Amino acid sequence: MRKCYIAPSILSADFGYLMDEVKAVEGEAEYLHVDVMDGHYVDNLSFGIPIVESLRKHTDMILDVHLMITNPAKYIKRFAEAGADIITFHLECTDDPEGLSQQIRDMGLKSGIAVHPDTPIEKILPFVDKTDKILLMTVRPGFGGQGYMEISDDRIKAVRKAIDDKCCNTLISCDGGINHDTAARVYGSGCDILVAGDAVFRNDDHAAAIRDLLASAVK
Ligand code: DX5
Ligand code: ZN
Repeated sequence: MRKCYIAPSILSADFGYLMDEVKAVEGEAEYLHVDVMDGHYVDNLSFGIPIVESLRKHTDMILDVHLMITNPAKYIKRFAEAGADIITFHLECTDDPEGLSQQIRDMGLKSGIAVHPDTPIEKILPFVDKTDKILLMTVRPGFGGQGYMEISDDRIKAVRKAIDDKCCNTLISCDGGINHDTAARVYGSGCDILVAGDAVFRNDDHAAAIRDLLASAVK
């Protein structure tokens, strides 16, 4: 059976207690999802390089930095130096996804390519074997706490099929609206890494919330 991972998204954490929040999930999850927003590609601002540096000092979790920014190529080196393990950029924000992915890999990191829900899924399929992870947005990027978009199941299945057809071991991650009720369909459609913001950090017991998500995903 495919392994299922839950990646808590710190966008929903209490930033006044950021490391307490991270410590609360560290024992239950391998990946920490770190949303960077620039107010241009998405209509919201979050945080940037200093937060990644601080996280790196205090945790060994795999830091997956999701860049929702218009010019990812300009910043990948600085996020790498800050301590990111995976840098995920948006397909819509580069003319050369393969080249950017390779640049990230050349720095010794893993790369991810994210896809906006409005982007036809066919556009990502040629790149599934050119990266380590495909991140499918299952809400409109920019804000936590939105509802899972129903169209996502078929999109996940299309990417799963392309990966299986090419026999590559690229991971699929899904981001947005994942909770107790939607985790099973997301995993069942072919996702490996389920990103969860509100479902983890808006639950008082973050660790129990992760265990609950895993149990409901893999029935
Ligand atoms: C949205 C972000 C997500 C967000 C998900 O643009 O990319 O990572 O934190 O939040 P939930 O799980 O609350 O939908
Ligand atoms: Zn994200």
